[in-house]
Amino acid sequence: MNQSDLDEIKETIEEISLFRRVIAWVLITIIFGYGIYFLVNYYGMGSHVMDWIHLVFRWAHVVLGISWIGASFYFIFLENSLNRTENLRDELAGNLWAIHGGGFYYIEKYKIAPGELPKKLHWFKYEAYFTWLTGIILLMLVYYFNAKTFLIDPAIANISSAAAICIGSGTLIGGWFLYDILCRTSLIQKKKTFALVGFFILTLISFFLSHVFSGRAAFIHIGALIGTIMAGNVFFVIIPAQKAMVKAAKLGKPLDPNLGKYAGLRSLHNNYMTLPVIFVMISNHFPATFGNTFNWAVLAGLTLGSVAVRHYINLHEKGQHAAWIIPFAVIALLALIIVTAPVSTNSKYNKTVSFKEVQPIFKSRCISCHSSSPTDDLQKIAPGGVVFDTPEQIQKMAQRILVRAVQTKTMPQGNKTGITDPERELIGHWIDQGAKITD
Ligand code: HEC
Repeated sequence: MNQSDLDEIKETIEEISLFRRVIAWVLITIIFGYGIYFLVNYYGMGSHVMDWIHLVFRWAHVVLGISWIGASFYFIFLENSLNRTENLRDELAGNLWAIHGGGFYYIEKYKIAPGELPKKLHWFKYEAYFTWLTGIILLMLVYYFNAKTFLIDPAIANISSAAAICIGSGTLIGGWFLYDILCRTSLIQKKKTFALVGFFILTLISFFLSHVFSGRAAFIHIGALIGTIMAGNVFFVIIPAQKAMVKAAKLGKPLDPNLGKYAGLRSLHNNYMTLPVIFVMISNHFPATFGNTFNWAVLAGLTLGSVAVRHYINLHEKGQHAAWIIPFAVIALLALIIVTAPVSTNSKYNKTVSFKEVQPIFKSRCISCHSSSPTDDLQKIAPGGVVFDTPEQIQKMAQRILVRAVQTKTMPQGNKTGITDPERELIGHWIDQGAKITD
């Protein structure tokens, strides 16, 4: 057996052990998620404790995500803004002066590795791993444990919870492999084509998901897929490449500069994915996006616009001013505002709708959740503090009711109470006519 055979075997072993670690982490996450769920239900603390668990994981997820994406922004900024030409030692790729928090900082980037490795080397990986883990736990807590309410919308596809969960998790795993395979082709060298192909595939997946899941769940899965690709890049490519670089430097072996470049490319992909992923994470506050009939196209538009903005920032940091990008992004945004505008329901309706006609609809379709003492099996406290017990409470929320129950049809949640389209229209006419509660 010669040296290259040995190296190959060693690499295979390393890959297997990496794979095992991934499986272990995923299993731990799933067991942990299910463990929490069953413990809470077993002790009958139900939705109150669940609310707090959601809070803790969401909080952690946001804080970790900020640290991760913040670091991504910072290091791409460094990369873009390095002085690469003036007064550089041979071994340096560039350097940079900065001032922050009342101190001057001087940073040097090495072309490959320093002659001698420093004793303390800071790594950036746990932000990424734990953002992903808390995200997957949240996905399970919110969507998979309440699949009937949040994941499935029978009006879109009447599938079982098990099927929906398989489609959801399959998308995340399959999506990562697809992306990784694409990265291993020569396509990765052609940045623009790669971006276009990636965008096209993502839009196809989003089209598919929007036809099997509720709009909200389809969006969150695209976010989770992007997040999984980003975390996968860190775990499977960037960190192993860096480990190999450190190892080679320690052994004084020649370093393959392509390794660093390849990891750098994946890191750049991550950077471009940050803005779309952040949008998706806040999207469930905006039913005009996920509630639209063509929600997948709205998502594609927002992805395109936000990637363009990220590109503008990157070019700006490099000292290039691609002024055309900003008008492009603004026009894309304006176009989205226009195409998502609700169609007025009032024009052809000349009969007056009295409150007496709509009140029973709220009683039968909404107050199981939106009441001071909800009877729903999951919502034990009126969601969002929205209560429809009295005529005044209904009237006060008229504009939001119009958006959620009439225009975007995102209420009742998963249409659990089976509201019909004529009922939605009736509510719409009543609100269009001024939402009067006295006849
Ligand atoms: C099965 C439970 C359930 C039913 C039934 C339900 N909702 Fe909701 N509603 C929720 C949940 C959960 C939220 C908070 C999450 C969200 O905003 O999507 C919410 C939030 C809302 C909000 C506040 C959010 C905003 O966008 O301002 C409004 C308004 C609303 N619902 C209207 C309605 C109307 C009108 C009905 C009846 C036609 C209804 N809901 C039926 C669960 C329900």
